[in-house]
Amino acid sequence: MSREPEAPPLRYRKHVFVCMNERPADDPRGCCAAKGSPAIREYMKRRAKELGLSDIRINQAGCLDVCEAGPALVVYPEGVWYRCETKRDADEILLVHLRDDGRVPRLMLDRDEKSG
Ligand code: FES
Repeated sequence: MSREPEAPPLRYRKHVFVCMNERPADDPRGCCAAKGSPAIREYMKRRAKELGLSDIRINQAGCLDVCEAGPALVVYPEGVWYRCETKRDADEILLVHLRDDGRVPRLMLDRDEKSG
């Protein structure tokens, strides 16, 4: 992704936003929190530290509006969206995307994927 010439330097090489939104159990849209996103975020934070990825940040986010596809996260500055359901998924995103600047196509959300 190219950046405007006047844009300041990135504060973080990669900035991850993990949806932590929680809705009532009977809400038809569901939510990422009920699908395990808090544990995924905690795991990713711990693993990032273990891997020495001190130039990335893993923040919590509110609803990213892809609820049915979650648990969802997005990585900036690239703006790549992922479904991250398991520790294995999180490890793959950490190693392939966040560490090595690759992509994990099997977990990427479609551009037009939205909640129902
Ligand atoms: S609740 Fe996570 S994307 Fe909406």
